[in-house]
Amino acid sequence: MSGEHLGPSPSLAADRLAYDPAWVYLLRCTDGSLYAGWTNDLARRLHAHRTGAGGAKYTQSHGKAAVQLVYAEACADKSAALKREAALKKLPKAQKEALAADWAARSRLTLRMATPDDAADVMALYNWYVTHGTQTFQYEPSTEADYRQNITEVLEKAPFLVAYTADGRLAGYACAHPWHTRRSFAWDVETTVYCAHDVVGQGTGRKLYTALLELLRRQGYHNAFALVTRPNPQSDAFHKALGFTRYGVEKNSGYKFGRWLDLGYWAYPLNPPADPPAPVRLRLPDAEMAAVLAECTDA
Ligand SMILES: CC(C)(COP(=O)(O)OP(=O)(O)OC[C@H]1O[C@@H](n2cnc3c(N)ncnc32)[C@H](O)[C@@H]1OP(=O)(O)O)[C@@H](O)C(=O)NCCC(=O)NCCS
Repeated sequence: MSGEHLGPSPSLAADRLAYDPAWVYLLRCTDGSLYAGWTNDLARRLHAHRTGAGGAKYTQSHGKAAVQLVYAEACADKSAALKREAALKKLPKAQKEALAADWAARSRLTLRMATPDDAADVMALYNWYVTHGTQTFQYEPSTEADYRQNITEVLEKAPFLVAYTADGRLAGYACAHPWHTRRSFAWDVETTVYCAHDVVGQGTGRKLYTALLELLRRQGYHNAFALVTRPNPQSDAFHKALGFTRYGVEKNSGYKFGRWLDLGYWAYPLNPPADPPAPVRLRLPDAEMAAVLAECTDA
């Protein structure tokens, strides 16, 4: 058979760019003390501290569910993280507090509606997952022009939210697209959320989705759906925590980086099904949008 009749070639394991995360962090316990630790998965480790399932003995006896992340630092690898953890543990409390204060100031989040000029930042954040992970089925990186168009089109009917840190980094974005094109589906949206790979597990996703879902609810949409590739335990846990319910799994739905992946279908009821439903408000008044975003922006 000649090559011109073949479809796209698969993405193989060797096409994946390597990433071995390592972190050190400080947690504030309920008695004000600071706990220093290291991890290769910040979100999972925080969850373990808070639930007690595999968390450190210290945090279990010092507030557990109420411990707060007050400092996070990415390290080159596990060995660097272990060294840095040992150094952090030895720091006097005042120096740990100074690190925490600086981190809080730098990472303070502002949520706002995106503009096409955010396209380069959004593209860079998303393309990291295209090249390193299976959170998205996409093989080829998107271009800035793709995202300029995407942001413009999304904003015609739904929010495209960006969360920037005080020091100017895009920490995450969340948006919604029409679920299907026929008129009868006009009350349904598909939601998307991505946080920068070095900012996951720090509450950005919750702030973005909380604002997004509230704006969609006020617009009069009825159902939000989310598609989550499997495995993606982080996104599964996240959607569950935010009130979504998984109602189906498409087995072996896509192939990327040398493996077959399932696709999980998640649903979130935004409004009860009115009969007949009022038309969706394609754009909320600016003051109403600003009030919702202010609720989810760090003081
Ligand atoms: C999934 C994602 C958007 C979640 O955002 P986040 O900022 O990391 O999550 P948050 O810190 O806001 O966590 C919110 C809740 O989700 C749950 N959660 C998040 N990550 C978790 C993990 N790894 N393990 C267990 N629970 C987790 C927790 O219950 C947390 O609850 P809390 O707010 O009471 O602490 C983010 O991790 C991400 O961008 N991941 C990579 C890209 C991706 O998978 N996007 C989704 C595509 S469908």
